Amino acid sequence: MSIFKNKVIWITGASSGIGETLAKELAAEGAKLILSSRRSDELERVKKALKSADSEILILPFDLADASKTDALTKLVIDKFGRIDFLINNGGISQRSLTKDTSIAIDRKVMEVNFFGTVALTKSVLPFMLKQKSGHIIVVSSIVGKFGFYLRSAYSASKHALHGFFDSLRLEIYKDNVNILIVCPGKIRTNISVNAITGDGSTHNKMDESTDKGLSPEECVRQILNGIRNNKEELYIGGNDINAIWLKRFFPKLFSKIIRKQKAE
Ligand SMILES: NC(=O)c1ccc[n+]([C@@H]2O[C@H](COP(=O)([O-])OP(=O)(O)OC[C@H]3O[C@@H](n4cnc5c(N)ncnc54)[C@H](OP(=O)(O)O)[C@@H]3O)[C@@H](O)[C@H]2O)c1
Repeated sequence: MSIFKNKVIWITGASSGIGETLAKELAAEGAKLILSSRRSDELERVKKALKSADSEILILPFDLADASKTDALTKLVIDKFGRIDFLINNGGISQRSLTKDTSIAIDRKVMEVNFFGTVALTKSVLPFMLKQKSGHIIVVSSIVGKFGFYLRSAYSASKHALHGFFDSLRLEIYKDNVNILIVCPGKIRTNISVNAITGDGSTHNKMDESTDKGLSPEECVRQILNGIRNNKEELYIGGNDINAIWLKRFFPKLFSKIIRKQKAE
């Protein structure tokens, strides 16, 4: 039997890409889902495509940039389902702009969405997982959570920050039977580059060539779910791009030379 059957799973960023695909796979395995992102119409579209009973899916739209709402939203989930077994912190926004062209307001916005929004939701859910003495928190970081890259200074910083936060939290809750998995995808074929923001806050609106050639979201989700099943702490998902993580760790000077030559997109 699937480990996800009848489990209550909250997915952020469920309106497209990796989050939408997670919703489809987990619904197919019999999970009860809470679907969140900003666009309620898109969440409704995702819900309609699932074969789950109406009562097993809760749509909770919210903006990760507004951390003040997470306690009230968590209460709604507990009122409906009584528990939360998995929190999948997947929602996020990327950036495509040189540091010199990026206003501090955009740096803060990317941090608010990717870091503080994720932290706030986790802090709202955590007391319930500690009380029920079980839970699994999944955080979707990026390979640029492990090293920096062109046009992504704010995005890379926001993903690095997630590692510091969740590695520390993992230590603190080890004895409470609450697990943490940090996922670092490389290039995955979603609208992440289309939806990325530029230095003045406008939308990049372009499918990057390398993203278009990336892994399918279905393969990414297959590996995430296997990582959860095997209780991994950190997971790298992609093609050759994920070798950069090992290169940086063991041969940092060679890594610098090679990464400089990569296309800045
Ligand atoms: N695709 C890749 O190559 C790649 C690589 C590394 C890491 N990632 C990470 O994977 C995660 C999922 O991205 P994706 O590739 O599936 O891209 P995507 O298709 O653009 O999905 C991003 C999701 O996040 C939601 N979101 C964005 N801003 C939000 C906000 N302020 N508040 C609440 N929700 C928000 C979006 O929904 P709404 O617009 O409805 O709010 C959408 O559901 C992200 O954390 C991303 O950083 C992706």
